[in-house]
Amino acid sequence: MRRFIPVYGGKRSIAHPYPEPAHRQIVEPFAGGAGYSLEYPDRRVLLYDLDERVVGTWDYLIHATEAEILRIPAVVKDTEVDLVEWPQEVRWLVGWWLSRRPSGCGPAKRAYSWDDQHAGRSNVWGEKCRARLAAQVPAIRHWRIFHGSYESIGAPGAWGPSTWFVDPPYQAMGVHYRESAKRINFEALGAWCKSLPGQVIVCENDGADWLPFEPLTTMTGATNRTRIESLWVKR
Ligand SMILES: C[S@@+](CC[C@H](N)C(=O)[O-])C[C@H]1O[C@@H](n2cnc3c(N)ncnc32)[C@H](O)[C@@H]1O
Repeated sequence: MRRFIPVYGGKRSIAHPYPEPAHRQIVEPFAGGAGYSLEYPDRRVLLYDLDERVVGTWDYLIHATEAEILRIPAVVKDTEVDLVEWPQEVRWLVGWWLSRRPSGCGPAKRAYSWDDQHAGRSNVWGEKCRARLAAQVPAIRHWRIFHGSYESIGAPGAWGPSTWFVDPPYQAMGVHYRESAKRINFEALGAWCKSLPGQVIVCENDGADWLPFEPLTTMTGATNRTRIESLWVKR
């Protein structure tokens, strides 16, 4: 399935090389656009995020009907004006797609380039993007999203056998998110990852030192810089 929310640092395009989930349930405590779960949408998927805009957008998508999404205006120049009658969650959803570049700063209020929406692109808000999102929502009806920090997930063992896909803002680079790496205690996060029951997959950039990460693949980011995506796995 293709992306629902184009979050900066999203893993949809590189979800394939990560280990397959060993369990029926996937938990993403740093959900963002949930790129890993999109590779396995039929699983039981539980998402957590601290950013209310990420959570609100997922909550809307999980509950919206195909017909409702198709009623959102296909051409939006300014979400505050053109979507004034719509709920905040819809302004966020459209806002994530108003720029061709995934945004770490969150949903935009105004279109990055007005022409894009008339050019029939599917990676920016418009008829194609809207139709794709509408066609995909029935497949995530069983997903769940929770608002909170990973630290608020009490007793992870009580959730039953799970694959934990842990993709926090990068220790060194993840400062562009509203909920940024600056507020994360990576030593404590490393200990938490080690303590999780079941299969644990942790993402980082090459050079991070809070777990013994190993290189996975190269990735070209929004700024066209190539870097090495790394991971730590507990089976
Ligand atoms: C790298 S992004 C996740 C990208 C995601 N894997 C994807 O494929 O789109 C990191 C996410 O962690 C969230 N976040 C930051 N601090 C958090 C915390 N303490 N607890 C939960 N989520 C947090 C951010 O809001 C952001 O959405």
